[in-house]
Amino acid sequence: MEANMPKRKEPGKSLRIKVISMGNAEVGKSCIIKRYCEKRFVSKYLATIGIDYGVTKVQVRDREIKVNIFDMAGHPFFYEVRNEFYKDTQGVILVYDVGQKDTFDALDAWLAEMKQELGPHGNMENIVFVVCANKIDCPKHRSVDESEGRLWAESKGFLYFETSAQTGEGINEMFQTFYASIVDLFENGGKRPITNSSASFTKEQADTIRRIRNSKDSWDMLGVKPGASRDEVNKAYRKLAVLLHPDKCVAPGSEDAFKAVVNARTALLKSIK
Ligand code: GTP
Ligand code: MG
Repeated sequence: MEANMPKRKEPGKSLRIKVISMGNAEVGKSCIIKRYCEKRFVSKYLATIGIDYGVTKVQVRDREIKVNIFDMAGHPFFYEVRNEFYKDTQGVILVYDVGQKDTFDALDAWLAEMKQELGPHGNMENIVFVVCANKIDCPKHRSVDESEGRLWAESKGFLYFETSAQTGEGINEMFQTFYASIVDLFENGGKRPITNSSASFTKEQADTIRRIRNSKDSWDMLGVKPGASRDEVNKAYRKLAVLLHPDKCVAPGSEDAFKAVVNARTALLKSIK
């Protein structure tokens, strides 16, 4: 049995799993867990000191799952406490605040911290990750849109949910899918089942959508030098259109990226004599 396979007490029935929460301070990790386990929300910020630990039981199909939840502190100050807790994990709840772009950008650093702590023999392939785009109840301040978050998550083979610990939106669905995926993984011998989402778009498509989103002007968007000819613009456009056409590309954000490319081409052709 692999190192981080769940512990099984009675064949075919109960499982014991370990789940951890990760993400910057104040993104809502503790509140998400509290909302699910205690059905309540506390608006006052009480920073987790090091680690909070809790146990809960859930039912997934015919199995009773005993879940050990380690809710980590996001503050860098607690790194020394956190780093003990990464090993033997079956599921990770990765949280960011949709109103704070830096908390989204930090997700890669969280994965890197976990990878480093697991060491060269640690295997992150047989861990289920769920990304929570949290605080969606505050849409006025939203700075990371759904397609951007979903693209990041799905291109890594992670689950993605939009959540609000305050209103409860998305929380139950997220946990149910998360636990069911951990059981699926266990029943599949520790191998991640090939899901539609992870198999349905390529890294090139995901990278292109991200590049388009971050481009500074229409030239940059089409990937041509300022002052390029009509032919060069059309050639670049055709290449992107083939890659991103909504009939062929189901990556999150592809439709907007395709529209942006069409608009960029129209604007450039107008400006080129
Ligand atoms: P650390 O323990 O320091 O790592 O923070 P955390 O990620 O556990 O954050 P916590 O759950 O303590 O929540 C931080 C603050 O955000 C608190 O004031 C919460 O009330 C608030 N909060 C959490 N989730 C939501 C949400 O979905 N919507 C809104 N509006 N506020 C939220
Ligand atoms: Mg906390």
